Amino acid sequence: MKDKQNYQPFCGYHQTWKGKPDEVLTKTDSGAACGEYLRRYWHPIHISSEVGDKPKLLKVMGEELVLFQDQEGGYGLVQKRCPHRRASLEYGRCEQRGIRCCYHGWLFDRDGTILEIPGEPEDSDVVKHVKENLRLGAYPVIEFKGLLFAYLGPPEEQPAFPFYDTFDIPGMTMSPYAVQFNCNWIQVLDAIVDPVHTAFLHQSQFSDGFGKMGEIEFYNRDRIRFLGTATRRVGENVWVRVNELILPNFTQAGAAFACDGTEERYFGRSAFTRWVVPIDDETCVAYAWGNFGERGDPHEWNTPEGMQMIEQGEIVERTYAERQSSPGDIEAVEGMGRISDHEKEYFVPGDRGVKLYRNRIKKYCKDVEKGKKPPQPTDLGFDVIPTYGSDSVLPVAETENENAVLRKTNDAVMNILFANDSQCGEARDSAIIESLRLIDLDT
Ligand code: FES
Ligand SMILES: [Fe+2]
Repeated sequence: MKDKQNYQPFCGYHQTWKGKPDEVLTKTDSGAACGEYLRRYWHPIHISSEVGDKPKLLKVMGEELVLFQDQEGGYGLVQKRCPHRRASLEYGRCEQRGIRCCYHGWLFDRDGTILEIPGEPEDSDVVKHVKENLRLGAYPVIEFKGLLFAYLGPPEEQPAFPFYDTFDIPGMTMSPYAVQFNCNWIQVLDAIVDPVHTAFLHQSQFSDGFGKMGEIEFYNRDRIRFLGTATRRVGENVWVRVNELILPNFTQAGAAFACDGTEERYFGRSAFTRWVVPIDDETCVAYAWGNFGERGDPHEWNTPEGMQMIEQGEIVERTYAERQSSPGDIEAVEGMGRISDHEKEYFVPGDRGVKLYRNRIKKYCKDVEKGKKPPQPTDLGFDVIPTYGSDSVLPVAETENENAVLRKTNDAVMNILFANDSQCGEARDSAIIESLRLIDLDT
C-alpha cells in the first residue's frame, strides 16, 4: 500500500487505507504472546490504601479479578467467579482469613484453597473431595511501600521480587499514585525511551530547559535495560537527563520540577518510579511512586495534582479547550486512538529507542511462545539493582563546537554512571556524585 503516489501532494485519497496495530505488542490477554510474556513478571495492580473492607473488582491484562484484604490484613487476588456456581466474588465478604462467596457461603483462603463449604457435612466424602481437588484461581500479592504487586504467571516460573536502588534512598518520600490512560499500554510505554518528545510536549509544562533539543543518545545494556539521554546546554551548564526503561515496563527519568538545568545537580533521581500495566488492550494504568526529597522533586508537589503533573505534565481533569491549548502526554498517546495503527508509523533516528525496545519485547514474546524464560531484572546479579534515571547538571564552558561539548559531557556522565554498578545503594550514589563533581570537561 505504501506506493510512491501515497506521498505526493494532496495524497489524502491514497492514504485512506487502514493501518494495523502491532498484534504482538498490543495484545495482553492470557494466551496472547505479549500477555504471556508480561505474565512472567511482578506488576503493581493497586494502591494498598485504596483497598477497603469490601472486595474490589479489577481488570489486569484482560483478566477480571477480585482483590481483597482479609481481617488478618493479608491480601488476596482471585479470579472473579466462584468455582462453585460462578457468582462474582466482588459481592463476597472479607473474613478473618480469606473471602466468602455471597451466594452459598463457600470460604476461600488467599491462595484459593477452599476452607469451608457451609450446608454440607464437614466430614463428608464430597466435602473432602472438593477441598482436595477444587481451588479458586488465585495469584500471589506483595504489599510494598503502599503499592500492591501481583504475579499472574505460572507458579513454577515465579521470579523473585526485584529490588531497585531507588526503592530505598535516604530522605526520599515515596508516594504511590495511579493514572489511567485510555489506550493500549505500548503507547504509554513508548514515551520513556523518546527523549525528543520532552522538547516539544513538556517545555511549557516544566521549564525552558526542557525545550532544548540538545544531543540525544540511546543505550541498551544487559538485554533488558534501555536508556535515552538528552544532553542540553542551559546557560553556563550542561544538563544530562537520563530516561530509563527496564523490560518489560519499569520506568524512571529525571525530576519533573526540581531540575531545569540552571543549577548544578549531581545524580538527582527520578520524579517517578513507575510501571505501565495493561488493564486490557484499550486501557492501562501507570502505577508509581512520586519521589520527593532533596534528590527527587520538592515536597510541595507531593499532592494528587502534583503527581498528575509528574505523570503527564498536566492535571487529569481538564476541559477540551485546556487540553488543546496545552496538551500533555495523555493527549499525545490517547489521541492515537485506543490502539494505534502502528503500520502507519514512520520512524526517524530520534525514534531509535522506541524501535529497539519494541523489537526486544517482540523477541521475548516469541521466546516465551517457544517455552523459553525471558530475562528477569533479578538475573542481572544484583541484590539491589542499580538504576540510571537521573539528572546531572554540570558547569561546562561553551566552545565553538557545542555539539561536541554536549556529546563529551553526555559520555563522561554516562561512563561514571555505568562504572559504579559494582557498588550498591548509598555507596554507589556517593561514588557517582563524587566522580561527577570531579570531572573537568573544560580541558
Ligand atoms: S456460587 Fe459461590 S458459593 Fe455458590
Ligand atoms: Fe512525556
